[in-house]
Amino acid sequence: MAGIYIHIPFCKKKCSYCDFHFSTSFKHKSALLAALQKEILLQKGHFKTETINTIYFGGGTPSVLTEKELNLLLEAVYRNYQVNEKVELTMECNPDDITSKKINEYKKSGVNRLSIGIQSFFDDDLQFFNRAHYASEAEQSILKTQDAGIDNITIDLIYNSPLLTLKKWEQNLDKFISLNVPHLSAYTLTVEPKTALHHLVKTKQTSLPTDDQAIEQFKLLMDKTKQAGLIHYEVSNFGKEGYFSQHNSNYWKGENYLGIGPSAHSFMNNNTSQKRSWNVANNTKYIDAINQNTPYFEEELIDETTAFNEYILTRLRTIWGLDLEYIKNTFNPVLLHHFEKELEAYKNSELITISKNKVTLTTKGIFVVDKITSDLFYV
Ligand SMILES: C[S@@+](CC[C@H](N)C(=O)[O-])C[C@H]1O[C@@H](n2cnc3c(N)ncnc32)[C@H](O)[C@@H]1O
Ligand code: SF4
Repeated sequence: MAGIYIHIPFCKKKCSYCDFHFSTSFKHKSALLAALQKEILLQKGHFKTETINTIYFGGGTPSVLTEKELNLLLEAVYRNYQVNEKVELTMECNPDDITSKKINEYKKSGVNRLSIGIQSFFDDDLQFFNRAHYASEAEQSILKTQDAGIDNITIDLIYNSPLLTLKKWEQNLDKFISLNVPHLSAYTLTVEPKTALHHLVKTKQTSLPTDDQAIEQFKLLMDKTKQAGLIHYEVSNFGKEGYFSQHNSNYWKGENYLGIGPSAHSFMNNNTSQKRSWNVANNTKYIDAINQNTPYFEEELIDETTAFNEYILTRLRTIWGLDLEYIKNTFNPVLLHHFEKELEAYKNSELITISKNKVTLTTKGIFVVDKITSDLFYV
């Protein structure tokens, strides 16, 4: 169940909250795309026997790629890897890039899932976020994608943001539901260092809603999506049956993935050891290193304690929960003893459910997932 992630590190504008790796200068675009193709070839040894089930173009803004550029990258993948004929092929798109022509090109290239960064259906929020699109384009981008015949769509929405009232959040969720989109990623706004938002908050020019308001928004999100028939399968992700993100689910289930491009991360588990690596988060350093055959990534072997903590961190956030049998069979007695002791403290709380060898969060538990996770961590 392996996946490939390809990072496209270019954006038209710098959104006020975002600290992902990207450049607003497109000067090195063609050199970078050539380097991506070379890296795809260089890394082919990782998946000699495994089939690629998911390919995910993320960013940055993958929808700035032309048809030709996208096809060159896909050709490099298909030439060097064994790709499942039913591959989930996702493109992250910004609404202002979506045209009917583009969707038809995507379909020809094999793209079968679009992740559209809507963020909000209100212009004041979009302006505050310094997004490159308007609310009208947000809605239109979804309609155009559906009209052109791609129904496997997910959108991103941000809540807990300075201008978002509970009423507006309800309207955003109602709009999402009325558009009959089968999947939603809803993120609580986080204030990242070195962003414009961070500066605004620090200088008291803006402030985020209170914790109680944030909880109200999260409650509304859970209620509305449930009423609309979506399954809350990860803390920030909601999908109709058959429309969960296979790519992200594989991350959470600990499957292997290869990250291509500046800042991309990879995870490889070959049964005897687990390894994580991360590419340099700088476009010119990445291009130069690839071209000169010098190191462009760092890596670490994941020890048993880290593997245990990562298992707790990722799995507890999902409906698949913690598999008690797996924990028992995988981790050493010290970790096991710690886990059983910490879990005992939660057994009679209303925060977790234990059934059929599985530990999952209750609705109440989802609100305190970070606290439960840190209690179960072995440090
Ligand atoms: C890194 S972006 C890439 C997708 C695409 N460029 C876009 O903006 O639509 C992926 C998503 O992360 C979310 N995101 C990024 N920074 C965030 C932050 N500080 N707080 C909450 N959500 C954030 C946004 O919802 C965004 O759509
Ligand atoms: S949110 Fe998306 S478009 Fe905005 S800066 Fe980040 S990656 Fe680029």
